[in-house]
Amino acid sequence: MSFFPIYNIIDISNNGDFMNKEYLKNNIKNINNIVLFDEIDSTNTYLKLNPSNNDTLVIANKQTSGRGRLGRTFISNKDNGLYMSLLVRPNISLDNINTITCMVAVAIKKSLDELNINTSIKWVNDIYINNKKLAGILVESSIKNNTLEYLVIGIGINLYGNIIDENIKNIATTIEQETNVKVNKEDLVVRIVNKIYEYLNDFDNSNFMDIYISSSFVIGKYVDLNMHGNKYKVCIKGITKKGELIIINNDIEQIVSSGEITRMIVYEE
Ligand code: BTN
Repeated sequence: MSFFPIYNIIDISNNGDFMNKEYLKNNIKNINNIVLFDEIDSTNTYLKLNPSNNDTLVIANKQTSGRGRLGRTFISNKDNGLYMSLLVRPNISLDNINTITCMVAVAIKKSLDELNINTSIKWVNDIYINNKKLAGILVESSIKNNTLEYLVIGIGINLYGNIIDENIKNIATTIEQETNVKVNKEDLVVRIVNKIYEYLNDFDNSNFMDIYISSSFVIGKYVDLNMHGNKYKVCIKGITKKGELIIINNDIEQIVSSGEITRMIVYEE
């Protein structure tokens, strides 16, 4: 006989109807607290301001100030997407912190694979489908005395309807727009969160980096890469097990741990 923790679903929303709480409660295996909001500025910001001692999952139906990497906005319209953040306190070394984003990307990709939704990963934190961005990941960490205190893992996935925002409609998409499938939001949450814990619970032995590397569509391509405010046209030779890019820049091989491959400007060799 197995016992699960007692779940403490705190519904801060007015009605919370955007999520089937029973389903979450019965199927998420490792979380004590699940907090739901009809609307919030940002689920990541909420957890950073309220870093509970227990692992906590926060899901919102709308974000008014959804945040992406590099100070960008993540558009989080009501009812259209999955906007969630997970606070975890894993016992992992700071050296491995950069691979957390890769691990989460693989958890999302594998969950979508199980629903026959075929995606690929764009270094470092984007999930793509048919050459458009479907999802993004924002991992934020709190470090004290050279030790990881907690991580806030933020995930935004465009699920339903069509992207109509003029600024992003050519570069972003939703699952429904690409596949005509309206995925079940709770089911997707459960798959992703449970996979994140599978990887976290056996972090040093898990094979997520192999999957990350084989799912990355930029390897072997020429791309525009923004590094420290400068733009370079480079060839992506590979990705290391630490999640760094191996690039060829002016015939010189370099390892790059931060930067951004600018949107889909991929030159075929
Ligand atoms: C990116 O595209 O650069 C990352 C986007 C991350 C968006 C998610 S939505 C839930 C969580 N709350 C936020 O404010 N951001 C993340």
